[in-house]
Amino acid sequence: MNIMVVGGGGREHALVKALRKSPKADVIWALPGNGGMENEALCVPIAATDLSGICAFAESNPVDLAVIGPDDPLILGLTDLLEARGIPCFGPNAAAARIEGSKLFAKRLMEKYNIPTAGYAEFSDPAKALSYLDAAPLPIVVKADGPALGKGVTVALTREEARDAVRAAMEDKAFGESGSRIVIEEYLTGPEVSLMAFTDGKTIAPLPPATDHKRAFDGDRGPNTGGMGAVAPSPFYTQAVAEACRERIFLPTLRAMNAEGCPFKGCLYFGLMLTSDGPKVIEYNCRFGDPETQAVLPLLGSDLLDILLAVTQGRLAEAEVSFMPGFSCCVVLASQGYPGAYKTGFSLELPQTEPWETLYTAGVHSEGGALTTSGGRVLHAVATGSELSGAICRAYALAGRVSFENAYFRRDIGKSALEVLR
Ligand code: AMP
Ligand code: GLY
Repeated sequence: MNIMVVGGGGREHALVKALRKSPKADVIWALPGNGGMENEALCVPIAATDLSGICAFAESNPVDLAVIGPDDPLILGLTDLLEARGIPCFGPNAAAARIEGSKLFAKRLMEKYNIPTAGYAEFSDPAKALSYLDAAPLPIVVKADGPALGKGVTVALTREEARDAVRAAMEDKAFGESGSRIVIEEYLTGPEVSLMAFTDGKTIAPLPPATDHKRAFDGDRGPNTGGMGAVAPSPFYTQAVAEACRERIFLPTLRAMNAEGCPFKGCLYFGLMLTSDGPKVIEYNCRFGDPETQAVLPLLGSDLLDILLAVTQGRLAEAEVSFMPGFSCCVVLASQGYPGAYKTGFSLELPQTEPWETLYTAGVHSEGGALTTSGGRVLHAVATGSELSGAICRAYALAGRVSFENAYFRRDIGKSALEVLR
């Protein structure tokens, strides 16, 4: 079976590595992939957002299954285009990807179907949004409706910050058309958990819950990033929380999407806040999380290719989805300066790994076999262990064996989760 994986980051490397383990996998293409994946996939220099390039590639090669990593191609309708060409595709179509592509779509869906989430108001007129803020409680959260490269959400501690966020999105068009409508939302508190689940629209099979670390610096300080590390399973997500989520959030979301005529098939990501009033949805993503996927997939005990095929064929209920006991930790090695300006082009050598270790590459370029850094997030050092503390120590031991000039990583990945277990 020949597989085309769309995307080129650490998440896609994790998907490629897990698919490679399947005895059914033959050729795996990665579009565009990255320089560190070349042992496992054939990298094809076509960008993940070049939909016509991807379709042309898929038509001229014997692709049996497409697996789409990033949000942009899903929101833009790559699944629809590939399915129209008869190519089975893991990832939702454009109608279902609205669950991530439009915050307003997601909020209205949750309101209509009674799925617990933060209270909100929506605005398309900046003057109305600004006057609403005059009496709103603080802190308050301002969200651009459309995709904004992870920058569309402001948690404002002061009224002025909230007003600045409204003006930036609606008047200055900082996120283009994505900010012409906004959501102003109640501020929630509690531990955050990322819960990804395979679903074919009928059955839902959750992956182990993960804790992401979005801020650049230790102690959750500094700017938001694409994720600096993750641990799984999250100890915040107890059996009782899992049951509440299944009954009040996961199954109602599947039913809601079916009722709206846009069944969700793929990996549905629930960004959850475990509030004192029960679990609530902070956001949905229409795809695997990054770096949660890198932390979670090394725990997968069954064949990923079988699961993805079962999802595309609407028979997930028959598939085996099992995970190994134990914990996993992923530490992101980034370029100093990320998520702001950073230098690249530093040479990089990948060490040998032990059976409990995995090194995923992201911003890595290969030239005649020599690797250099080429992005903000460069590598993901992942390790598993029977205890969370052991998995964390092992991931840092691996991170410590990789060196490239200008490397930066957080020293406290998993610390908050460890504190719960103590
Ligand atoms: P998002 O871009 O939707 O992932 O949001 C980025 C981050 O903003 C989330 O991971 C939360 O930490 C925070 N956030 C989003 N919505 C809320 C909310 N209603 N209350 C508190 N924090 C929030
Ligand atoms: N780790 C958060 C995301 O993938 O959006």
